[in-house]
Formats: sequence, structure tokens, C-alpha cells
Amino acid sequence: MTHIAHYRETFLAYLEEKIVLTEPKNLYEPIVYILQLGGKRLRPILTLMTTEIFGTSHEKALDAALAVEVFHNFSLVHDDIMDDAPLRRGKETVHEKWDINTGILSGDAMLILAYQLFENYEDGIFRKLAQLFSKTAMEVCEGQQYDIDFETRNNVTIPEYLKMIEYKTAVLVGAAMKMGAIVAGVSEKDANAIYDFGRNLGLAFQLQDDYLDAYGDPETFGKQVGGDIIENKKTYLYLKALANSTQENQQSLQHLFSIQPEDATEKVEAVMKIFNESKAPEAIKEAIEVYTEKAFQVLETLHIEPKQKQVLKAFGEQLMNRTV
Ligand code: IPE
Ligand code: IPE
Ligand code: MG
Ligand code: MG
Ligand code: MG
Repeated sequence: MTHIAHYRETFLAYLEEKIVLTEPKNLYEPIVYILQLGGKRLRPILTLMTTEIFGTSHEKALDAALAVEVFHNFSLVHDDIMDDAPLRRGKETVHEKWDINTGILSGDAMLILAYQLFENYEDGIFRKLAQLFSKTAMEVCEGQQYDIDFETRNNVTIPEYLKMIEYKTAVLVGAAMKMGAIVAGVSEKDANAIYDFGRNLGLAFQLQDDYLDAYGDPETFGKQVGGDIIENKKTYLYLKALANSTQENQQSLQHLFSIQPEDATEKVEAVMKIFNESKAPEAIKEAIEVYTEKAFQVLETLHIEPKQKQVLKAFGEQLMNRTV
């Protein structure tokens, strides 16, 4: 049983059953709101899929999958405050709909809730899951701090950027899969290999997120297109554009990424022009393929059936071409 739609449905039914509105409403309403807002459910699907691929029923992984999705949504609530983002999944962000304090506290509660879900596992598995989760959550904080620090730095390098996205995004995708492997009780070697698959896929995923932030369709993307440019995020697009531009464009780009005008329309247009002229979108597409391919290479070392490898490959290919 490896159908993605089925995993999604099973997961959503479980989420609806477990995440319910209680008192105080101002704490729990935003939690229910963000978790019911949709989203791709990529990470919990990967957790369930991994458990099943390693020969254990995905039902056993539902609490771990929910923990990962709750944590992911917690990180989004706080991320949207930090990035001053108005839109999430086509709707108002939590801090816009309520206020910043609500976003902070509801986010905190979600982080705690995620940890609590591991308590439903027996001691040995609980310990492994909690250990992996703590390590991952700390790395996400480190990645988020680098992301913010880079906004005001003008000498960020590509290796620094790659480390930043590895921490803020890729390690959670890896951990989502490793949790599925832990629940299935597989060898350390296989658990680490699936982590590495997820980590590389996660790098490709964040690169695609950066691409869509500039080139996504505002009608369907669900987030503010151009948000990274407005916030002076040193994404792969920016770094490649800077590396491959004329001296004049380099100077303009550096200037544009040091200002935050009230109306950002002209700034975004000017930046997009430089991105396009320097072939930054082509460069990022290439990098997305490189990391997706790296993920596929890791699959070769895994002790699972070719049919199952194909399932993971198909999933990776889908992600590479996503528009949301
Ligand atoms: C958004 O994650 C944050 C990133 C790490 C890029 P997703 O793109 O998985 O967001 P949803 O959950 O599908 O909305
Ligand atoms: C988000 O990165 C990473 C985390 C939430 C940890 P982004 O800031 O690029 O995510 P989006 O684009 O707002 O979803
Ligand atoms: Mg953001
Ligand atoms: Mg961010
Ligand atoms: Mg983004």
C-alpha cells in the first residue's frame, strides 16, 4: 500500500480527530486554523510512507507523522512573524488574523504538543524519536537564525546559504523519514540512508521554494510572490545573480537588497530584471536537479525492493516540478 492520496487521507482523518478546539479559545483557535489550512502535508506523508516501505503498517507512524506536521506548522507561524508575511496557503497568516502575541504563544503550544505526541510510543522508540526531534528542532532554529542574519549581510557565500537551507528546511524532511524508519525498527544504516535521501530532497525542496517565491503564480502559490526580495533574503537566485552579473547590475542588486521601501513594486521589478538577465532561474533549476539526483543516488544503498525505490523516486520527481 503505497498510494500518496491514501496516506494523505489517513493522515488528515487522524489530524482532525486529534487536533480539537478547547479552552482557552485564543490559544487553540489559531492552532486549529493553521493546521486545517491545508498545505501539501509532505512531511507526514513521507513519515507514513517510510514506515510502510520498511514493512510496517503506516498506522503505527501516525503519531510521529502528526508530531512532524505540528512542528512544521509551529515553525511556519513563527517564520511568518519573522518574515513579516501576510499570506500563508492563500489565507491570512496567524499574526495577521490575530496578532503577534497570539502567534508566539500558539506557536509555543504547538511545539509542546509535537513533543507530547511521542509519548504514545514505547520507551525505546520514544527515546529515539525524541532524541532525533530535539536535534532537528535545534538545527531548524539555527537555520532560521542564519536566514535572518543573512538579510543584513552582503557577503553571504553559496556554501553558507546551503548550510542555512540544510538546517532550516532539509533536516526536517530527513527527520520525517527517519522517524518512519525508527517506528519500523530498521537498522541504523538504513535509517541513516533514508535520512540522507530526505535531506537531499529537502535541499532541492527549499531551492524550489526560493524559485517559486520569485517566479510562482500569485493566483495559486498561496504566499506573497516576491516576499523574499522584499525581505532582502539572500537566496540562491540572489547569490547566482550577483555572481553572474555585470558590475553595474551587481551594484544595483546590492543596493536593492539593502533597502526596504514602503511600496516594493519597483524594487521587485528591478530585481527580477537582474535575476532574469543573469540567468539565475536557470541556475537554480539546475541546482534543484543536482540535489534531487543526489537523493536518488542514496536510494541505491537502501535495502528495499526496487518497486519501493520507484515510489520514492516518483515522489521526488513530483516535488521537483511542483508549482505550490
Ligand atoms: C514551507 O513548507 C516552508 C518551507 C520549508 C519551504 P511547505 O511548502 O511544505 O508548506 P505547506 O505545509 O505545504 O504549506
Ligand atoms: C521557512 O523558510 C523555513 C522554516 C519555516 C523553518 P521560508 O521562510 O522560505 O518558508 P516560506 O517561504 O515562508 O514558506
Ligand atoms: Mg517565510
Ligand atoms: Mg523564513
Ligand atoms: Mg520561502
